[in-house]
Amino acid sequence: MELVTGATGYVGGRLLERLLREGRPVRAMARDPAAVQADVEVVRGDVVSGEGLDAALDGTASAYYLVHSMEAPAAGPNGGASFGARDRRAARNFAAAASRAGVERVVYLGGMAPAPGTTLSPHLRSRLEVERILLDASPKSIALRASIVIGARSDSFRILVRLVERLRLLPFPAWRRHRTQPIDERDAIEYLARAPLVPEAAGRSLDIAGPDVLSYGDMIRRIADLMGVGRAPLGLRLSQTPAASAVVSAVAGYPLELVRPLMQSLETDLLPRDDDAKRLFRIRPRSFDRAVEWALREWERAEPLAAR
Ligand SMILES: NC(=O)c1ccc[n+]([C@@H]2O[C@H](COP(=O)([O-])OP(=O)(O)OC[C@H]3O[C@@H](n4cnc5c(N)ncnc54)[C@H](OP(=O)(O)O)[C@@H]3O)[C@@H](O)[C@H]2O)c1
Repeated sequence: MELVTGATGYVGGRLLERLLREGRPVRAMARDPAAVQADVEVVRGDVVSGEGLDAALDGTASAYYLVHSMEAPAAGPNGGASFGARDRRAARNFAAAASRAGVERVVYLGGMAPAPGTTLSPHLRSRLEVERILLDASPKSIALRASIVIGARSDSFRILVRLVERLRLLPFPAWRRHRTQPIDERDAIEYLARAPLVPEAAGRSLDIAGPDVLSYGDMIRRIADLMGVGRAPLGLRLSQTPAASAVVSAVAGYPLELVRPLMQSLETDLLPRDDDAKRLFRIRPRSFDRAVEWALREWERAEPLAAR
């Protein structure tokens, strides 16, 4: 049996569909079981409070940890804590419950880290801290690190598309020149689905990435191009992340609690350490353009894109 946490979220939801399609025995965990859109056993569980974790993990060999706390702080115990404190507590609760239940491995998707010696954003520091807690608790666990996942339901991709759609000049500060290697959702899900089946991945932290090295400016230009929008973006000269985050949050229609940590993480290059994951998993990742075209097509099947 495999457990998928974050089953109401983007990555967890997609992975759940994939594992069910493969016929793998799966259980989902969610704070609100009614919100899980799949025909699957769901256990109510909350990683921050720890409620429901023992029941959710009972009898599972692998548990996918696909949760983050970048949301407006809720009322109640720990509700007022920063996302870093909530995520630390959540990972410790989950790691302890997984050890109690004898789970063989936790599979985690976190964020790609900048080169050693570079200052970490609070978001990336927190993602790495979660990775460490989970790997330390179960030695066969696997941590995958990705930068932007390109998919119709991925918040980080949707924010970029909304900006292209709604603005003539895009508020990206000087670090729009920083580079990363976004990954196609189909490849990210493939890595996650195969992770428990690749013995060489046990105990490792592996970077997963697409083949194209792009600056954030290049990404915006490629997305605008593929959307058929003839605008020259990136002209607004906001040099500070807080100001840019506020504009992006208002224009894209996403909460500042999500946008600010994501934008702070763009202040350095985020490039893979090596291609070990590609080699071990024998995956040939799709190009950025293929990923964007596919994501936009899926998006338009659900709702029109004004700029197209
Ligand atoms: N999307 C990307 O581009 C991307 C890139 C790199 C890495 N990742 C990583 O992938 C993982 C999943 O991200 P995502 O994009 O799928 O995020 P998402 O769509 O925002 O989903 C987050 C999930 O976490 C759940 N959650 C939040 N707090 C919880 C709690 N206290 N107890 C139980 N569940 C809780 C949410 O459930 P509710 O429905 O109850 O809120 C939701 O299902 C994260 O670790 C993220 O760092 C994502």
